[in-house]
Amino acid sequence: MDVPVLDPATATTVAGGIPTPRSDDPTWWRSAVIYQLYIRSFADGNGDGTGDIAGVRQHLGYLKELGVDALWFTPWFASPLADGGYDVSDYRRIHPAFGELAEAETLIREALELGIRTIIDVVPNHVSSEHEWFRAALTAGPGSPERERFWFHPGVGPNGDGMPTHWVSNFQGETWTRTTNPDGTPGEWYLHLFTPEQPDLNWNHPDVRREHEDVLRFWFDRGVAGVRIDSAALLVKDPALPEVTGLEGAGEHPNTDRDEVHDVYRSWRAVADEYPGTRVLVGEVWMPDPVRFTNYLRPDEMHTAFNFDFMGRPWSAGELRESIDSMLAAHAPVGAPSTWVLSNHDVTRPVTRYGRADSSFSFADKRFGIPTDLELGTRRARAAALLTAALPGSLYLYQGDELGLPEVEDLPATARQDPMHFRSNGVDPGRDGCRVPLPWAGDEPPFGFAPQGSSPWLPQPADWGRYSVAVESADPGSMLSLYRSAIAIRRDLEGDESFAWLESAEGVLCFARGAGFVSVTNLGTVPIDLPEHETVLLSSHELVDGRLAPDSTAWLKTRA
Ligand code: NOJ
Repeated sequence: MDVPVLDPATATTVAGGIPTPRSDDPTWWRSAVIYQLYIRSFADGNGDGTGDIAGVRQHLGYLKELGVDALWFTPWFASPLADGGYDVSDYRRIHPAFGELAEAETLIREALELGIRTIIDVVPNHVSSEHEWFRAALTAGPGSPERERFWFHPGVGPNGDGMPTHWVSNFQGETWTRTTNPDGTPGEWYLHLFTPEQPDLNWNHPDVRREHEDVLRFWFDRGVAGVRIDSAALLVKDPALPEVTGLEGAGEHPNTDRDEVHDVYRSWRAVADEYPGTRVLVGEVWMPDPVRFTNYLRPDEMHTAFNFDFMGRPWSAGELRESIDSMLAAHAPVGAPSTWVLSNHDVTRPVTRYGRADSSFSFADKRFGIPTDLELGTRRARAAALLTAALPGSLYLYQGDELGLPEVEDLPATARQDPMHFRSNGVDPGRDGCRVPLPWAGDEPPFGFAPQGSSPWLPQPADWGRYSVAVESADPGSMLSLYRSAIAIRRDLEGDESFAWLESAEGVLCFARGAGFVSVTNLGTVPIDLPEHETVLLSSHELVDGRLAPDSTAWLKTRA
């Protein structure tokens, strides 16, 4: 090891005696507020139009003031950015546009000095086609040990021109690409559940397992407090490569949620547990069955995983209540807290989604031109922010949601970058619209995201000045002010994971947390009376004659 181990729990000593909130709390992750930082679009410190570590360091005070416990950085490693960095070519290097390793180390330390932990994003299912392993595999040719780290396979038929399976990519289209032999003849095929630039690794290979454990240690040694695990259910494939029939039993799908994948996370947990403090494993697990989902959270596996069930639900009291109940019930037997997630860098921004006639989210339904009422959507997103922040568990906040940014639906065609858009032949708008650089200040692009005169990598709408941090900081009624207050008040709920529904009218979600705290959300169409209380701690919308208007949440202090 070439760096001293940095322990997030004792960062006070390492960083020079600055007190850090909850620094010695091994259960910090159970109720943490985690800010998802999409580094390309957060802040550009060097004026090249791309966000970077320098930009994050300039704005650590903003994150501290917001009150978050941890930052989850979407991949910041060396990458050709064929899929926004989820195509990693070298885990031990930072992408040059984002900075250098030494800067990342400084950032991790500076954030810890402010009591903010760092979570990085690892992408174990695949690497970039520019990764040295894949390049070596291509050069070494069929039958070589280098190819065994991936899924190379001869094609079907006399000329080998049929692909080995007809599995459908998570980004639509095919999952196999044919290689060309060094002599120019058509060669084997290789598997990629995403783009051809993201070849899938073979998790039956010991090198693959060893390498990822080394990568975890590399970053834990640098003080990282956890990892977000990309596409966590996809790693293990059935080596017989059968077709998908749709009739598979649980654990028998050829490439998703196979039972053997849990061994991987048991070994990762063992690595995390070697370190002082709690280094957390957070899974990106898209799994409709709540029990198959929480299997990943058994005590010797991951700590938490994203609750996408809640995120996908429409703005409906019945739907949200059902999701809360099923998620809390599924988590209870494994002892893991639930997470609450309203969005991320892959999905439509909440203020846009909640303003639509169908406010549910599913990748399959993403289309251009779906009408939305942004005023309604914003009002509901504010109510949803308080609803989720009041629930027991950890809270994820995707950068820009604290400003109430809408999805940018009219990006010029030439600006779009997302392979999901291109692989759908332009039918799916893709994910660029939720990745547009943040507005910090000023009346015109780049709104303080980058030095004046630079062009952000994705263009910002001309009217985004009104969402800027400067404007919203000065407005007590802004989304930013709401989030700041909510996160501060939420602190009082830490350490108590109790939750109980209270009786309420139809269309209302009302529950008690801890001693003397009640959250009430009105998803109905008429104002409602508040339950008995001592004071209103916070509300997402002004109360009218003491009543809670539709599409609003209020937090109440009640007699304990
Ligand atoms: C999930 C990530 O969130 C997404 O952005 C990425 O494209 C896929 N995994 C593939 O790595």
